[in-house]
Amino acid sequence: MIPAIQLNGLTYAYPDGTAALREVRLTVAPGECVGLLGPNGSGKSTLLRHLNGILPERFPEAGGAVAIQGEAVAAGNLGVIRRQVGLMFQDADDQLFCATVREDVAFGPQQLGLGPEEVAARVQHALEEVGLVHLGHRPPHHLSSGEKRRACLAGLLACAPSILVLDEPTSGLDPRGRRELIALLRSVRATKLIATHDLELVVELCPRAVILDGGRIIADGPTAALLDDEPLMLAHGLERPHILQHRHPHEVKPETRGTKSEAPAPASERAR
Ligand SMILES: Nc1ncnc2c1ncn2[C@@H]1O[C@H](COP(=O)(O)OP(=O)(O)OP(=O)(O)O)[C@@H](O)[C@H]1O
Ligand SMILES: [Mg+2]
Repeated sequence: MIPAIQLNGLTYAYPDGTAALREVRLTVAPGECVGLLGPNGSGKSTLLRHLNGILPERFPEAGGAVAIQGEAVAAGNLGVIRRQVGLMFQDADDQLFCATVREDVAFGPQQLGLGPEEVAARVQHALEEVGLVHLGHRPPHHLSSGEKRRACLAGLLACAPSILVLDEPTSGLDPRGRRELIALLRSVRATKLIATHDLELVVELCPRAVILDGGRIIADGPTAALLDDEPLMLAHGLERPHILQHRHPHEVKPETRGTKSEAPAPASERAR
């Protein structure tokens, strides 16, 4: 099996010397949905920005530490990589730049070289999926923050990537928008890696979770087991989500129940 995402000891420091990722090893299988957790500044966004080659800024330093569908992310193949990976930025304003929402959503499919009819059909469908058809004519900077987030997601969905990489997808969404987004993400048949502080989203959507702190992977295992481990969560600026607190300890939703091969390592083995 070729992993959808593979990080092979990824270490990264920003040009000012800030060490953001240290020896990160992570393998995500095709079709998996993985939650990426960790306190502010732990390196989540930095990690995600490596998956479609936005980082590192200077490629010779990358050292082949990131592979997408078995293909090393490198300066020479960013086009191929970006067809496969749809990345939602943490800040929607970094992602939206066209004159109207509709043009913004069309930008990705146009880059894929699709014909005008196919582009128009994909844009319409994506706007319907995120509930933004009525705002297609608006300049993106005239949208509310939750609407911008939906517009970003529409732009990704219109490209039908095989890997969706989402940075805080529910931030700024109202409760209904959040529920709709979760339902929509559940229905999308892509491999998903979701960085988020929304632990309940992780419980609902991601059978597996990874905790990052100080640029290192601290834990990687079945979501229910990790998030139920209060000392582990508290030690890394997280908390046991309410959705688990109100649940009987033996009651675990099928989606969050790990398979035997995914059983969590003892805490001592988890910390690297
Ligand atoms: N452009 C930059 N230049 C220098 N350091 C940076 C830059 N961007 C981020 N950092 C630093 O890199 C580290 C990781 O930041 P990152 O944005 O990846 O964290 P995060 O886990 O996404 O945090 P948050 O939960 O706040 O979104 C932090 O120490 C941060 O201050
Ligand atoms: Mg971030």
